[in-house]
Amino acid sequence: MARPIIIDTDPGQDDAVAILLALASPELDVLGITTVAGNVPQPLVTTNALRLCELVGRTDVPVFIGAHQPLVRELFTAEYVHGPTGIDGADLPDPVTTAQPKHAVDFIIDTCLAAGTDGVTLCPVGPLTNIASAIAREPMIIPKIREIALMGGGFFAGGNTTPVAEFNIYVDPDAASLVFNSGVPITMFSLDVTHKALVLPEDLDRIRAIDTPVGEAVAGMLGYYERHDVEKYGIAGAPLHDPCVIAYLIDPDLFTGKACRVDVETESELTVGQTIVDWWGVTGAEPNTMVMSEIDRSGFIDLVVERIAEL
Ligand code: BDR
Ligand code: CA
Repeated sequence: MARPIIIDTDPGQDDAVAILLALASPELDVLGITTVAGNVPQPLVTTNALRLCELVGRTDVPVFIGAHQPLVRELFTAEYVHGPTGIDGADLPDPVTTAQPKHAVDFIIDTCLAAGTDGVTLCPVGPLTNIASAIAREPMIIPKIREIALMGGGFFAGGNTTPVAEFNIYVDPDAASLVFNSGVPITMFSLDVTHKALVLPEDLDRIRAIDTPVGEAVAGMLGYYERHDVEKYGIAGAPLHDPCVIAYLIDPDLFTGKACRVDVETESELTVGQTIVDWWGVTGAEPNTMVMSEIDRSGFIDLVVERIAEL
């Protein structure tokens, strides 16, 4: 049976590839897409999610509008990475469909409460505002969440937004702290692994060669998005951060890591948003997170290219 998931997202080109990868994969049942302000504000993130569903003819997947701002802080956005629309590089028409009337947090709560014994897997690939709000408002969902597989944080790799903080955690560290302390099993795809999930020029050529509207849109988005990382980190391509979460749910063997205790800094002005990963177990604290650190990059790229070609 396909695994039921909710994608919580702030598209974002790499979010877009994550969504498309999930929609192309029979192993996963995308119950809904919930949006959160992050890479760009609301309502753009929601418009982008609707655009992507329309691109692949999946308007049956409901989209829910979530947080407009972090729990307690001002919103910090990343147009400098993703462009003014969030998914620059793909010329997708305005959506004709609209988001659902229910709030994203209510959808997450109701879906989890109604879940059977297998529970629901939450896939946050943006700031953790919606997930934290759902857990705080209705703690009864905690045993119904099979796993939270998230993109966020960094430890040996440092940060991409401050020297120590990764974007998703930096935008809403208070939400992240609540989620990491919730007791839900967490699998974390931080910059330590996503910076190894690079799309190299030859991979982009494979995506272009798919020669379909979806292939063209993905190649266009990634072509735009890579310029920032190539300039900033001197790496040969763009990291496909968010698709790591979805690839792991399809084929967990693509990744390896270690169970660790993870906490989030919420107070220090200097290091706010840092994920403190006890990689060496020096605190003796009980692990709360499976922290992924290695990826089979070529297997991952093959999966992404093959599935995108099927859309
Ligand atoms: C994360 O931040 C966003 O810019 C990306 O979509 C990804 O989720 C990487 O730090
Ligand atoms: Ca994202």
